[in-house]
Amino acid sequence: MTELIPAPRSVVAGSGEVRLTGRTRIRVGRGTEEVGDWLRTVLRQATGLPLPVGRDSGDADEESIALALSAGLGPEEYRLVSGPAGVRIEGGSAAGVLLGAQTLRQLLGPDAYRRAPVRRDRAWAVPHVTVEDGPRFRWRGLMLDVARHFMPKDGVLRYIDLMAAHKLNVLHLHLTDDQGWRIEIKRYPKLTEVGSWRARTKVGHRASPLWDDKPHGGHYTQDDIREIVAYAAERHISVVPEIDVPGHSQAAIAAYPELGNSDVVDTASLTVWDTWGINANVLAPTDDTLRFYEGVLEEVLDLFPADAGPFSPFVHIGGDECSKDQWRESDTAQKQISNLGLADEDALQAWFIGHFDSWLAARGRRLIGWDEILEGGLAPGAAVSSWRGYAGGVTAARAGHDVVMCPEQQVYLDHRQAAGPEEPVPIGYVRTLEDVYRFEPVPAELTAAERARVLGTQANVWTEVMEDQGRVDYQTFPRLAALAEVAWSDLPAPADRDFTDFERRMTAHYRRLDALGVGYRPPTGPLPWQQRPGILGRPIDGPPPAR
Ligand code: ACM
Repeated sequence: MTELIPAPRSVVAGSGEVRLTGRTRIRVGRGTEEVGDWLRTVLRQATGLPLPVGRDSGDADEESIALALSAGLGPEEYRLVSGPAGVRIEGGSAAGVLLGAQTLRQLLGPDAYRRAPVRRDRAWAVPHVTVEDGPRFRWRGLMLDVARHFMPKDGVLRYIDLMAAHKLNVLHLHLTDDQGWRIEIKRYPKLTEVGSWRARTKVGHRASPLWDDKPHGGHYTQDDIREIVAYAAERHISVVPEIDVPGHSQAAIAAYPELGNSDVVDTASLTVWDTWGINANVLAPTDDTLRFYEGVLEEVLDLFPADAGPFSPFVHIGGDECSKDQWRESDTAQKQISNLGLADEDALQAWFIGHFDSWLAARGRRLIGWDEILEGGLAPGAAVSSWRGYAGGVTAARAGHDVVMCPEQQVYLDHRQAAGPEEPVPIGYVRTLEDVYRFEPVPAELTAAERARVLGTQANVWTEVMEDQGRVDYQTFPRLAALAEVAWSDLPAPADRDFTDFERRMTAHYRRLDALGVGYRPPTGPLPWQQRPGILGRPIDGPPPAR
């Protein structure tokens, strides 16, 4: 019972239990109806109990699960009381009630995560307990790279459920990259007709000699996106779309060669990229390119409405790893630099990003980008995903920008989880479950006012070497459970964190992940079918660079 993940602020255990039976009702107060529907759906599937939903009368009722809003709590705070008067979950908003309902599910035991009852005759009980809880950070995220390897829509919905079970609330969808364009844009059909698939794929790190000659592709239709956004909103998760510009754009250039630097390379002969790394083929920094992407973003804004969640006003425009080689060689780019009176190619990138910063702000939206976007100065509302360590986040916070901390040295889940040779396609530094558990999102050098700029943190799942759900699950879990606790719980300083207690709670949590069908890395190492013998990775030895 005290095995909750992420750990709540306070748990006071009682001595009895509330039985769930054929007579148990879910009673919903005003504003909690949707949470009641969600709770009924998941608990009915798992238990087979009818659990009818009715109005909350406010009366104590030992056979009910009551849901209510409470004015005294913050939007994501909740209080769960299980006692002689039944179970009552109060939240500061529907989001808080849902978060409390996630805790209720954990209290019911691992089988509460199944989609059908495994035994009809078993008893279901919620131990008597009072849980008072609320998050440390507002932004508790997961970035899924669905561009390098496409994750079919059902997989995204599944990850939304997995996030919700861990009290995460922002899904950052990396929808476009050199290796694939994954979102239907009606006015530019070739983005998906041409850009959403590649003929073959490099298997392993780019230095690997192996290829998979099976074509790889897929994209979300606009209705798929609407479904994903609505499904996430029901679980109080905001979806932040990323359209990566001006680098990481070869798939778009393959579809529309005029988007590339055609005075430098034969862009008409480019195909969707089939290997990994930083790509020289970047967007041409022209007014026509800006107009094209305004067209893309107009559809994106429509598909990702600003009112779908607290972070729904954000649109991520990438901005990372844009090679400047072609811009240096391109007459068109050089003319643009001089027409705009800019100093150099870096200033040209800042102009490009700055355009979308103002364009989004004028539409009531907020730009977020990788920390490279700081290099040219930003409009006040823009926010930064700090990935190249902590430095970008520190600079951004000091300049008055909101920050999401996701340093690659700590929370890039493509990095290997152990040093052993059996880790599949080992990439980067060894980042164990304990390393992630001891990750601190707020840099110590920030002042109190600057610290308030840290919206929160997210783990990033880059999928170059994760070709299917099994690989994504393996890299993401169990470390996402540690990230969830870092994002949610009021943990002490990294060295003082009780990892032994976390591991103890993980013993119960692995049973939940089993019931959810998650192919996590077992604590003892990869199972034989989770290994990828003979596929070259890129392990980096030694500790990651100091912060
Ligand atoms: C990134 O990892 N290029 C954001």
